[in-house]
Amino acid sequence: MIYLDNAASTAVHPEVVKEMLPYFDVQYGNPSSIHQFGRKAKNAIQKARKQVAALIDAEPDEILFTSGGTESNNTILYGITKLQGLHPDQNHIITSSIEHEAILQPCKKFENIGIKITYLPVDEHGIVNPDDITNSINPHTVLVSIMFANNEVGTIQPIKEISEICKKYQIPFHTDAVQAVGKVPINVKELGVDALSISSHKINGPKGIGALFIKKGVIITPQILGGGQENGMRSGTENVASIVGFGKACEIAKERLNENISHFQTLHSSMLSKIVKEISHVKLNGHPGKRIFNNIHLTFLGVQGEDLIIKLDEHGIAASTGSACSVHTQKASHVLKAMGFNHEQITGSLRMSFGYMNTLNEVEQTVEVLKKVVSELRNISPYKTKYNF
Ligand SMILES: Cc1ncc(COP(=O)(O)O)c(C=O)c1O
Repeated sequence: MIYLDNAASTAVHPEVVKEMLPYFDVQYGNPSSIHQFGRKAKNAIQKARKQVAALIDAEPDEILFTSGGTESNNTILYGITKLQGLHPDQNHIITSSIEHEAILQPCKKFENIGIKITYLPVDEHGIVNPDDITNSINPHTVLVSIMFANNEVGTIQPIKEISEICKKYQIPFHTDAVQAVGKVPINVKELGVDALSISSHKINGPKGIGALFIKKGVIITPQILGGGQENGMRSGTENVASIVGFGKACEIAKERLNENISHFQTLHSSMLSKIVKEISHVKLNGHPGKRIFNNIHLTFLGVQGEDLIIKLDEHGIAASTGSACSVHTQKASHVLKAMGFNHEQITGSLRMSFGYMNTLNEVEQTVEVLKKVVSELRNISPYKTKYNF
């Protein structure tokens, strides 16, 4: 099996598993308890908070543990708008048209109650124009939320520039960095962002755990009330084992960041050059340079991305069309639409995403299989004569 769907989820690193295990059956205390079991669990959470903070150069008390990227995104959107009483006239949010559904769905719900949302367009590479942010800000703007790296095509946004604009107008700036963390260096102080979402299972940690960085001084309303855990920001007994695993995954991601980046670049350029050489009518999507290099998103004209995935799967290769959500809803990708792709370009796309375990040998094997299956599919394609396949 060759697993090339690391943007969807990753294998939990063996060192992470080892670190988590005692918190199931030995150190199982409740972190709120006063006795030793409780104190050990509490200390383990504090250690993990430091490990997560260190990966993005935040302070430990700026890290709020959540159940993952989806909850982090919802927490900031609801946390900021609820401050204004969710009043339609007092809330305007600026976001982009290529966000993950974990931003778009809450925004759609806000729109239903009359809150104004501006969805900024992107260029053909999937990049937001920072001038559009300046032009969209009005006296009711309470939040700007623009993703760091896109989950389908891998394009990186001009986060620092956007952050400077928001600072100038004193509007909180959130970025969904779920796909960017561990793939590019991130320093929240240098970037000047106010809030940032992270998910553990994209960086070889367990699923169902993540974090929201909230800069000191940025006030949001808590969404889950109860026993006052997480400094009153998210009640409920903490998922200690997962928090510990997430912390360890962040520590490893920090240690191996440069090594991983250069590994991804090697795999990316090797795969791209081989594909372009071996297969005709294929195009790399997203920005060629401003991207996360563990993501390679391609359009193969004349084939259906879904057919390609099924054929690859028959050969033991796991890939994707882009986002897991669009597979559920069978909707054409909103990201590719926003980038100006036509129906044929959208349906012919394939995303392969690397993890630290992938090898050049796997890249070679995958290109051989791709060559074969693309040719098979093009032989029965209605576009066969159009492109003279
Ligand atoms: C950009 C982006 N944001 C948010 C999420 C949701 O993260 P989680 O699966 O941790 O809820 C994902 C997951 O695919 C993502 O790619």
